[in-house]
Amino acid sequence: MTAPYRVFITRELPGREFAKLRDDPAFELDVWPGDFPPSRSDLLQHVAGVDGLVCLITDSIDSPVLDAAGARLKVVSQMAVGVDNVDVAACAARGIPVGNTPGVLTETTADMAWALILASARRVVEAAEYVKDGQWQTWTPTQMAGIDVYGSTLGIIGFGAIGQAIARRAQGFGMRVLCWNRSPRPTESAAVGAQQCEFDHVLSQADFVCVSIALTDDTRDLIDARAFELMKPGAILVNTARGPIVDEDALVEALQGGQIGGAGLDVTAVEPLSMESPLLSMDNVVVLPHIGSASMATRGKMADMAVANLRAGLAGESLPNSVGG
Ligand code: GLV
Repeated sequence: MTAPYRVFITRELPGREFAKLRDDPAFELDVWPGDFPPSRSDLLQHVAGVDGLVCLITDSIDSPVLDAAGARLKVVSQMAVGVDNVDVAACAARGIPVGNTPGVLTETTADMAWALILASARRVVEAAEYVKDGQWQTWTPTQMAGIDVYGSTLGIIGFGAIGQAIARRAQGFGMRVLCWNRSPRPTESAAVGAQQCEFDHVLSQADFVCVSIALTDDTRDLIDARAFELMKPGAILVNTARGPIVDEDALVEALQGGQIGGAGLDVTAVEPLSMESPLLSMDNVVVLPHIGSASMATRGKMADMAVANLRAGLAGESLPNSVGG
């Protein structure tokens, strides 16, 4: 009988496929317990000699980790669509495919972008806290008055699957939709009634700027002080992609100086966001703990895909979903 595949999984996963993997004698699983990621030294120790690694966005998978894993490592399978925490080039140099989980989280993440658009525009979180704090004494003509979403202009930075899903939802709100993507997407934008524009134009016209682009060296700090200067006073920034795409110091300054009207952030430059962050004391900012894809159904599907990528990589087959070739 052949020896089981040794696999390190950096957290318990939801989904049926993970449960099946657990019961499968062909796999010897080492599953990191609890909610916190393994420390760097634990990660280095637990990957040693594994055939497969399943990781999350909270794990930094770089050359030292690959070296610590050693020559048996056949696949790195990430349970997320974004893989900015994985050194994909270092994996490719060693012939190790990197799996990810695109598609299944598109609509769920677009829903969350919309939750942030609506919450920020209509002051939903602030108003709910007002009620809970016992401040609701009466009704006044301007109490908790926000801005209209219906009929406004939505700007989408990054027009991949999630950006397009955000745009589709805007049709029901009678919005003008402008989009920018590094490579033009004429068919996709026409299909959802969005107008492709220059980056600066999107920023200067939009009432809501939604960031929906992958984090790479080129997109780090893409939304910087210059971008905030271009934005309309009163405009709202929504980010459901990755925190470092926005220069957070510049964001704080833009909010403090009244350059923009508010922000809805599912992601921050450093996660978790420090309790010292000025963003947390601003009424016009909603910060969520990176839960864009967090519906039970979607997280289950993502885990199932991660397991399918793992199985394929261990069998020496091409992964159902992989990044970087
Ligand atoms: C989550 O942020 C993902 O990239 O899937």
